[in-house]
Parts: sequence; structure tokens; C-alpha cells
Amino acid sequence: MDLFDEMPHIESKRLVLREFVSSDADALNRFSHNQRIYRLLPTFLYEQRYNDARVVIERTRAECFDTKESILLAICPRKDPQKMMGIAEIYAYEPRKPKASIGYRISRRYWGQGIATEVAGMLKSYLLDEVHMRTITAHVIRKNIPSALALKKNGLFRLYPGVWEDWGQDKPVLVDKWIYKRRWGNQGPTQEEIEKALAAIKQTQSQSA
Ligand SMILES: CC(C)(COP(=O)(O)OP(=O)(O)OC[C@H]1O[C@@H](n2cnc3c(N)ncnc32)[C@H](O)[C@@H]1OP(=O)(O)O)[C@@H](O)C(=O)NCCC(=O)NCCS
Repeated sequence: MDLFDEMPHIESKRLVLREFVSSDADALNRFSHNQRIYRLLPTFLYEQRYNDARVVIERTRAECFDTKESILLAICPRKDPQKMMGIAEIYAYEPRKPKASIGYRISRRYWGQGIATEVAGMLKSYLLDEVHMRTITAHVIRKNIPSALALKKNGLFRLYPGVWEDWGQDKPVLVDKWIYKRRWGNQGPTQEEIEKALAAIKQTQSQSA
């Protein structure tokens, strides 16, 4: 199955990741206007494109899914699938590799309960097992430790640390690129090996400059 053949509906024991519906509008409005949630995120996320969350929900299928730009899913408790706890996202799909990126943002009141870790795991399993991706990536601002830990616990490696990216803010931001490759499984380089190799490259570069 291709990633965009059908809208994912992903369940774990505790959570459901499902398509947004019109009754999510009030919760999404509060969520997407909360600066504490968006402090360490790009300024161009789809849920913030329109001021009114009803418009976001109405247009997300046509403007994200049908164009194969991204997939936005509401994170909900399995016991109460009407209640939105956050957003999970799949984006930057490259069918030839095949590769996709994952993202998540959680309501403040649910932080620290392992939700991001679980959502990253659910997205990873879906992408590997259901739509047969070979590579999964995630971009995280360097100072976002909880997000980095959620990825690390799911076997992603911080393969490209310290890349400057344009996240729509006044200045570029320092981002780490995390990667999972199917063919490595959990056998990627250790963080120490990555740092050591990068330090050696930097040293060679400064010697030849
Ligand atoms: C970052 C974010 C997604 C983490 O979500 P979460 O559900 O609280 O994360 P988890 O509970 O799965 O925690 C992940 C790890 O971070 C740790 N952690 C949680 N909050 C922390 C904090 N304030 N400081 C340090 N570590 C923290 C947890 O202990 C856990 O590590 P452990 O399993 O070794 O104990 C959430 O804070 C959020 O939505 N922030 C705003 C949006 C955002 O930044 N999204 C990510 C963009 S890349």
C-alpha cells in the first residue's frame, strides 16, 4: 500500500491516531493558538495556516492529503476517541526512497506521560509495516530534549546533529536530524561514534582551511 492510498487510522492500547473531524474545531482552535506548544516548532505548520480551525479541518484533506504534502492526525485516548490530545504528522514523503518524516505536538496537560514516545512508535510501526518505508526522519530543535528522547527511545539515531534550518523565524534555528533506517534496525552508530567522526571531520577541515 502507498502512503497516500488511504488515511491512516492507527491504534495502540492507549491511543488512537485518526483523521480530524468537524467536532475537533474548538479543541484544535485552542491548541493551535497556544504559544507554549508552538515555541519550538516551525511557523509554517498547516494547522496554523488559517486562523479558524474549522477551515483547517475542512481543507486538510484537499490541501494536505490529496496533494501528498502531509497527513495530520488527531491524537486521542482510545477510551475517548472524541477528545483531541495533540497532533501527529507524517510529511516530506519521498516515494522513490521510500522515506517520510514524522512530527507530533501534545497538549500541555498531557506532557510527561509518555504520549510523544508512544506516538512516535505508532507512526514508526505504521510507516515500516503498513506502507513499507525504508527510512524515517524527524527534525528537532536542539534544545527540545523531551522530543529527542522520544525519538531515541524508538530507535532513531541523531545522525545529523546541529544543522541550521529555516523554520520561518527571524533567524535560522539549530536542528538535529534523527533517522531510522530499516536496514540498520537498531544497529546504527552510537551517539559517541557520531560525535567522534564529526569532530574528526571538523578537525580535518580546519587544518586544510
Ligand atoms: C516535546 C513533546 C512532544 C514531548 O511530549 P511528551 O508526551 O511530554 O513526551 P514523553 O512523555 O513521551 O517524554 C519523552 C521523554 O522526555 C522526558 N521529558 C518529558 N518532559 C521533560 C522535560 N520537561 N525535561 C526533560 N525531559 C523531559 C520524559 O521523561 C521522557 O524520557 P524518559 O522516557 O527517559 O523518561 C511535548 O512536550 C510537546 O508537544 N511540546 C510542544 C511541541 C513540540 O515541541 N513537539 C516536538 C517538535 S520536534
